[in-house]
Amino acid sequence: MTTETTVPRPAAAPPKTRKRILTGDRPTGRLHLGHYVGTLENRVKLQTVYDTFLLVADYHMLTTRLEGLDEIGGHVRNVVLDNLSVGIDPERVTIYLQSLVPETAEIHLYFSMLVTVPRAQRIPTLKDQMRDHDIAQPSYGLLGYPILQAADILCVKGDLVPVGRDQESHIELTREIARRFNELFAPVFPVPDALIPDERLLPGTDGSSKMSKSLDNAIDLADEPETVRLKVKSMYTDPGRIRATDPGRVEGNPVFIYHDAFNDDSAQVEDLKARYRTGKVGDVEVKQRLYEALERFLAPIRERRARYERDPKLVEEIIAAGSERARSEARRTLHEMRAAMRLDYFGE
Ligand code: TRP
Repeated sequence: MTTETTVPRPAAAPPKTRKRILTGDRPTGRLHLGHYVGTLENRVKLQTVYDTFLLVADYHMLTTRLEGLDEIGGHVRNVVLDNLSVGIDPERVTIYLQSLVPETAEIHLYFSMLVTVPRAQRIPTLKDQMRDHDIAQPSYGLLGYPILQAADILCVKGDLVPVGRDQESHIELTREIARRFNELFAPVFPVPDALIPDERLLPGTDGSSKMSKSLDNAIDLADEPETVRLKVKSMYTDPGRIRATDPGRVEGNPVFIYHDAFNDDSAQVEDLKARYRTGKVGDVEVKQRLYEALERFLAPIRERRARYERDPKLVEEIIAAGSERARSEARRTLHEMRAAMRLDYFGE
């Protein structure tokens, strides 16, 4: 008896009324303000328009590093909490864990036959990952990273994939895989589109061009007020300005970039800019106002996070329910794939 016989046969797909989004994060740690500006804010808006699936890509974590795997569980929890804290609504969004949908791995196997090795080697993120993680020779699994991502997207038949520009080549490969499968076997898959927002890169607190955990220049969504205050206090500003009476530069100054991004009091921001340019305000005051603005922004996020944390079972339940839903979608897709490929020789 195969295990197949114990799996209930999936029901026919309900008609899809709204386009479907599939997006996700690797569980690498806590999310920060840069993630908010780059993806989370947009994600919260999109959830009201599209049928949204949000995946936590823990299989992908295995592609670069096999040490410290015991940390992944905590990161999964934190990534989900961070998403919930900025307003992702678990009633609307199917939040799921990749490894709780093992059909992904089988779909990845079939897809891996549709991509040549040189094609996979040409994906630019491969070189980036090897450089960033100090990898001399990629494993078979790392080479397959974008093919695994295609399995994520297509297992729920995602139509739209909101990602950063760095992920564009992965969506292009996903489109090729979908087309190739449809052509070779049967039209099972939509050809998904990437949804790439206008590039809004938030600089780090140290003035480097990108906020990033590894550069230690991030303000996390879950930081305590005192931590936020200290990080803002030590922020990089206009290095050419020695005294508060010197005229300062607003353009490209991270403190003002943050004011523009997070301070809801735009009259105050304009006033600070004017005074800064003419040497009529000190960095201390500009930073104090920024800290206050960030607190207005972060306090409700922190509070929502605390509400989910108060019930320790809640996040697990949200992940379990979402994963069950995603799994039934993936099972149905797999069933169609196997039928299209004529791999259903023993039923199913
Ligand atoms: N590769 C993505 C990243 O590093 C994470 C990811 C995995 C993903 N599977 C996905 C994103 C599917 C969108 C769709 O950010």
